[in-house]
Amino acid sequence: MTFFGKLKKMMGFSAAQAGRAGETDPIEPSARLLRGRPKVYVLATGGTIAGRLASTGPRYRAGVLGIEALLGAVPALRGLADLSGEQVENIGSQDMDEFVWLKLAHRVNALLADPATDGIVITHGTDTLEETACFLDLTVRSPKPVVLVGAMRPAGSPGADGPTNLLDAVTVAAHPSAAGRGVLVVMHGSLFEARDVAKVSSLSLSAFAAPNAGAVGQLADGRIHYGQRAALSPERLVFDVSGLDRLPAVGIVYGHAGASATPVKALVDAGCRGIVSAGVGSGNVHRDVLAALADASGRGVIVVRASRVAAGLTLRNVEVDDNRFGFVAAGALNPQKARVLLQLALTRTRKAEAIQKMFDEY
Ligand code: SIN
Repeated sequence: MTFFGKLKKMMGFSAAQAGRAGETDPIEPSARLLRGRPKVYVLATGGTIAGRLASTGPRYRAGVLGIEALLGAVPALRGLADLSGEQVENIGSQDMDEFVWLKLAHRVNALLADPATDGIVITHGTDTLEETACFLDLTVRSPKPVVLVGAMRPAGSPGADGPTNLLDAVTVAAHPSAAGRGVLVVMHGSLFEARDVAKVSSLSLSAFAAPNAGAVGQLADGRIHYGQRAALSPERLVFDVSGLDRLPAVGIVYGHAGASATPVKALVDAGCRGIVSAGVGSGNVHRDVLAALADASGRGVIVVRASRVAAGLTLRNVEVDDNRFGFVAAGALNPQKARVLLQLALTRTRKAEAIQKMFDEY
């Protein structure tokens, strides 16, 4: 039986329900009635989607509204699924960290192990949403849908996008066709896979894109319209974080003209076990930085080369001799996601070749 066949069996839905590439929302309303109403759990972490306009100081504050207010403001949600939820944090996502990531991973794995849960929505600030999505994509073991969602405009502002985004996210989390695609992100009518998505605009409502792969689908009229079915890997890379309460320290150094070795040396002196270079072009680095990275690698620090450029790949041995220096190439991952994967990889091994395999596999 194929992986997807096993998945469907696991999820308890038939071939007719599963749909094919390019199809729109394959579940008939009658089939949905037979299954009963889907049960979606919402985990709230804050962000602009829980933000409110302020009368003094900066224009608004993120992470103000609690989950009751968030869900209560969109009564139509109750028409889509049986909803329950909890407040995990209420922060601006600039303050997101590995401790909240681990809390979320533990909670999501526990909730999805319960047959009563069909899917999960996580409300999140947009600034670091892609990193949390990537972390969960690498640590959630269930094929059931997990959907991250945010908003660019807080409640009370003209054109606030939170309610529509939330409706779209619950639509996806409630739908069996979203299972087995890894963690997903819904923003402004587009559906993205966690591995590919990035915030590409600081203020626009269309703030997210998948620069290398494109969106996997669109949300319109309360339905999911898939582009093409994602490849489903039976050997998906998943890390077991159940016994962890922190992650290895990994820093990022940013590339630019005239860059110096100082940030690399500071990270090594601070005891970082890994460094991600957000290099220029296809991950190139200034000669002084290269020397410092080579030295760090020689001392057992894992160095991953990524790029500050928004789209494209960082491949091995193109202009930098990765074999000689023992570096890892990030492939399609941007620096902040390469950091997530490197932190997780370091919980398993400190060997650069083994870590390169994980980057190639994800
Ligand atoms: C945040 O990331 O928490 C603030 C910005 C946003 O949610 O859009």
